[in-house]
Amino acid sequence: MPKTMNNNTERPQLKVRNVHFNFTNVRKHWMQNSALGTHFVNSMHIVFPEGEKFFIRSVRHFAKNIKDEKLKKDINLFCGQEGIHSREHERFWEIMENQGLKPDRFAKFMYETAFGKYGLEKTVIKTLNKVKPRLGEKLCLSVTTAAEHFTALFAHGAFSEKNLTAKDTDENMKELMQWHAAEEIEHKAVCFDALKEIDDSYALRIGGMLLTTPLLFGYIGIGQLYFWLTDNDAKVKDLPKEMVQFIENTVFGSMGTELSKHYFEYYKKDFHPNDIEDYYLIEKFFENKSYA
Ligand SMILES: [Fe+2]
Ligand SMILES: [Fe+2]
Repeated sequence: MPKTMNNNTERPQLKVRNVHFNFTNVRKHWMQNSALGTHFVNSMHIVFPEGEKFFIRSVRHFAKNIKDEKLKKDINLFCGQEGIHSREHERFWEIMENQGLKPDRFAKFMYETAFGKYGLEKTVIKTLNKVKPRLGEKLCLSVTTAAEHFTALFAHGAFSEKNLTAKDTDENMKELMQWHAAEEIEHKAVCFDALKEIDDSYALRIGGMLLTTPLLFGYIGIGQLYFWLTDNDAKVKDLPKEMVQFIENTVFGSMGTELSKHYFEYYKKDFHPNDIEDYYLIEKFFENKSYA
């Protein structure tokens, strides 16, 4: 895999890795013994799988219209990777349930409001398709492409994220998040290239990003708050210390820095995910992995 890949065309070879993580001994506040920090990622355990199923639906809808054979194959591999991400995060729900965190309630809330019968996805498709045939499905693909920009930026920061790499953070959870991060970087250009081939409209791409930004942070934030309120062991007296740690390590740490550094690049007319050099990060991560 080349270290630099900024010619706007090449994507690395994707691989579906059928991994199984062991969550048996993960303690309740597995990230730096902080309820607030742990529940930020616990919220992602719900938001990611629900979102990833939507990504798969959105890109599969257009797969048959893609003419580039390599991209067609990559869409299949992308769906395979997202399917396993979704499964592994969902497997952790059982542990959260045993910890009294009731993940099903938040998952139901997210599903009903975003993807259910009267949820955003169906409403947007129905409304926009009246304006122009398949405009709704195109916007869903654009939302997926925007969300993939976010996951790639989160991923970029995940290898040096202080909360995630701390000594008192559970090793299996760190491995889960970094494996997911590596594959997010690996497939970061697939949906972008698919959207480009289906409809190259700048307004469509930016429309997707404007919708995705508040939705993604909204759901992650609601989930973090929900789990903190549901957690009988989360203490108000620990909140100031945990907030400072969360702001220092995550908001102003590597994740927040990558986000603020590269978020607006998406708004450039000639932006391509490969403009951000990070394929070297996954090359390094997979170096000693048996499942690489
Ligand atoms: Fe994923
Ligand atoms: Fe992804």
